[in-house]
Amino acid sequence: MLVFAKIKSIQQKIKSLKKGTAIGFVPTMGALHKGHLSLIKQAKKENDIVIVSIFVNPTQFDKQEDLVNYPKTIDSDLSLLKSVSCDIVFTPTADEIYSSNIISQLFNFDGLEHQMEGKFRDGHFDGVGTIVKRLFEIVTPTKSYFGEKDFQQLQIIRKMVEKHQISTKIIGCEIYREADGLAMSSRNSRLTKEHRKVAPFIYKTLKEAKKEFGIKSAIEVIDWVENEFKNQPLLELEYFEIAVEETLQPIKNKDQEQKYRAFIAVFADKIRLIDNISL
Ligand code: PAF
Repeated sequence: MLVFAKIKSIQQKIKSLKKGTAIGFVPTMGALHKGHLSLIKQAKKENDIVIVSIFVNPTQFDKQEDLVNYPKTIDSDLSLLKSVSCDIVFTPTADEIYSSNIISQLFNFDGLEHQMEGKFRDGHFDGVGTIVKRLFEIVTPTKSYFGEKDFQQLQIIRKMVEKHQISTKIIGCEIYREADGLAMSSRNSRLTKEHRKVAPFIYKTLKEAKKEFGIKSAIEVIDWVENEFKNQPLLELEYFEIAVEETLQPIKNKDQEQKYRAFIAVFADKIRLIDNISL
């Protein structure tokens, strides 16, 4: 496994690859877990080589505290990547990516950026767009893999690729869960024992909401979920929304032609957890 920290070095390596080599790309912020490994395994199957980037991107954090506390586990990340036969790892510094100008490019994602996470995390998607576009320019991937846990991010990256005519195929991968249903996330390692114990309630409620959505209106399901969380003192609901998958527009009434998804964000003490389910 090769590890590059410099843009020039990884680009030289990519240039030296045989013409037509299919490159699978998995961008990450490190603190790797089984969810990331499942993306890498899928990328391995579908490409000739796999490149993983590890970069904690400063411009996508709206709170300095979150950036500082983001888990950094580079040694164990590299061993995990070796264990799944990753070919190349890219580990740039912030200076390497941004020079001295750590700011985001401003994007228009046709409104996708104003829904859900966009309402609560100021500038987050400009930061994500900036880094992912930059990484695509450096890595020139054939296919790029993103988890559906960050479904809004996935749709925004699809939109960016379409609008900026970037030639990589975006592959959305199913949410990888712990045995008790909690969606895998680098943040789970920061949960207290008590909060970790109650966190599966999030997915349990999503599954029940899916059932309810078969027989009730969107508004009734939203009310029901909000009430469920009132009885759960260790978890604070930030939002629960039912939206059209493609546009992420919240709905009031169902239309048989549309595909819907329910989205949730919850605080377990200071740790913010998100999840979603196709309805
Ligand atoms: O999903 C993430 O881990 C990050 O948002 C990403 C896509 C690696 C960009 O920094």
